[in-house]
Amino acid sequence: MLYTFLYHQLYTRFAWAYDGVSWLVSLGRWASWRRVALDFVKGPDVLEVGFGTGELLSEMAGRGMAVTGLEASAAMHSITSRKLKRRQQSVERVQGFAQQLPFADGSFDTVLATFPAGFVTDSAAHREFARVLRPGGRLVFVDVALYTDNRLFRFAYGLAFPPKPKAATRFAEALDESGLHISRCIVGSGPVRVVVTLGEKAVADAAPV
Ligand SMILES: C[S@@+](CC[C@H](N)C(=O)[O-])C[C@H]1O[C@@H](n2cnc3c(N)ncnc32)[C@H](O)[C@@H]1O
Repeated sequence: MLYTFLYHQLYTRFAWAYDGVSWLVSLGRWASWRRVALDFVKGPDVLEVGFGTGELLSEMAGRGMAVTGLEASAAMHSITSRKLKRRQQSVERVQGFAQQLPFADGSFDTVLATFPAGFVTDSAAHREFARVLRPGGRLVFVDVALYTDNRLFRFAYGLAFPPKPKAATRFAEALDESGLHISRCIVGSGPVRVVVTLGEKAVADAAPV
């Protein structure tokens, strides 16, 4: 509850501190963790949900991808807008919620979220992700998980990424309801590894002959 409140503050009133805080809690690795997502993106049309301060959005645009961003926080939009302007980039962005995407069915080849917020445990959001994906399209979530029994490490990690006991179950249930084919891929070998969750939308059945 307290953490939910604090996170909300970081995404809104203290959004200016987000890049610094994420750098600090990851000991400088946040950007490289986030960038793992790019290896799983299918084009041409990509939707990034909860883009935060817009770093990945900018990187994808720089690589020539047809990217659209959706983000709930007005403060995050302002930061991203200034960043894109500085970099002379133009990216389509929408202020809205993952649970109610303002896009037509089958609009995207990839729906992507890195370090996704609470919406990943909400089946309404997953239904929306599945709806806006094209047949053959892919959902990509990137997060990190701890792979060590070292108690000091576990304590420090728990401060930065507080455990949410029910979240994993709710996430799995919500994914299940999406109707996508789910798989998982672990990237890296250290105590903290990147976890990529993929959801593939079936290619439409061939028309009967
Ligand atoms: C942990 S941050 C991740 C930001 C960025 N993707 C990154 O990798 O650093 C989660 C972001 O999701 C946004 N968010 C939270 N709930 C949302 C929702 N229901 N719909 C859209 N965006 C949401 C927050 O405002 C925040 O910017």
